Amino acid sequence: MDKIRNTIAENLGGPFSKLGTSHFSLDECPDLTGKVGVITGGSQGIGFGVAYTLLKHNISKLYILSVSKDVIDGAKTVIADELGRDKANRIKWMQCDLSDWRRTKEVAEAIENDTDRIDILVNNSGRGIMNADVTDYGVDRHMAVNHMGHVVLTSYLLPLMKKTAGRGDIVRISNQSSNLHQGAPSDTKFASLDEINRDAGPNGQYGRSKLAGILYTRYFDRNVTQKGHPNLLMNATHPGFVSTKQSTQDIHEPYPVSGYVMSHGIEPLKKSQFEGAVPTVYAVTVTKKSGEWICAPATPETASAMAQDDDLMDNLMQLTRNLVREKTGGEAVVSI
Ligand SMILES: NC(=O)c1ccc[n+]([C@@H]2O[C@H](COP(=O)([O-])OP(=O)(O)OC[C@H]3O[C@@H](n4cnc5c(N)ncnc54)[C@H](OP(=O)(O)O)[C@@H]3O)[C@@H](O)[C@H]2O)c1
Repeated sequence: MDKIRNTIAENLGGPFSKLGTSHFSLDECPDLTGKVGVITGGSQGIGFGVAYTLLKHNISKLYILSVSKDVIDGAKTVIADELGRDKANRIKWMQCDLSDWRRTKEVAEAIENDTDRIDILVNNSGRGIMNADVTDYGVDRHMAVNHMGHVVLTSYLLPLMKKTAGRGDIVRISNQSSNLHQGAPSDTKFASLDEINRDAGPNGQYGRSKLAGILYTRYFDRNVTQKGHPNLLMNATHPGFVSTKQSTQDIHEPYPVSGYVMSHGIEPLKKSQFEGAVPTVYAVTVTKKSGEWICAPATPETASAMAQDDDLMDNLMQLTRNLVREKTGGEAVVSI
């Protein structure tokens, strides 16, 4: 019975979100005075809900990485109107398309030169359920943005995060995944570029990249947290079904007509962007654990069998390292 209640609470908004056995609300976010954070996709959707909450709870500086200037300008106006000009001025926006790994490295290095600490990294940006496409590097766009771009970003921020954690503070990283990781093709091996460039259909494309986010989380926990950095935590999150651009507009790219079921049909049941922000805020401000799959609101759950597969995890990270090095001509490398 608890499992059913938790599944409903995890995925749906409003009164449904209260049915679960675990509870966490954004009001429980601790005071973040003195902390510095980095968030991808913090300008709209769930990421905006997270950014707003971190600022509301006094984070000292927040780097937001995203694509569109118009969107971040709108976001800053809302923050200034609702939380005050001082909070809006704590945002430093950096344009960064995560499919461009050279640019991602450059942005990470600029952040490292601009701050002496990083306490929070939210890897949130994402390409939703959309058609297959490839980046300028010739790599599947879902994998390149949702997984590899975030691995590059994390790699280049890692020295400063290790330094921050080495001073005795807890540094927390979250990867925005989804329970739709279960839609990854069952023959996924992460064995080659050809394999990940094979069109798996909109759900399969998305699911594969979200599976990668959980595997990377477990890999980081095994190779970094458990290997001498106990204060440097990484967890993956599932926000539930949330009303955002992904679920109201982008879904119509692959599904022009049937997408209306998601964009309009189940709209009243979806979570708001703030409800969707809850597991991430928990993961980057409260948890003391690492390597977990945290479902809304703050419930560690067991992800799919593929997400537990250590061989798949090692293949994924080998492929990630190889592709980043090869496609950037060695200008960007993955350090773990
Ligand atoms: N909505 C849901 O029901 C749901 C469920 C499970 C998981 N998720 C995940 O939650 C995360 C946030 O999605 P959302 O629903 O809040 O969608 P959203 O409102 O469309 O926000 C997506 C964010 O990602 C940024 N972004 C997109 N492509 C990028 C790129 N190539 N490089 C850098 N940033 C990029 C966008 O930047 P701009 O603002 O500049 O456009 C935007 O800020 C995603 O990882 C998504 O897969 C969502």
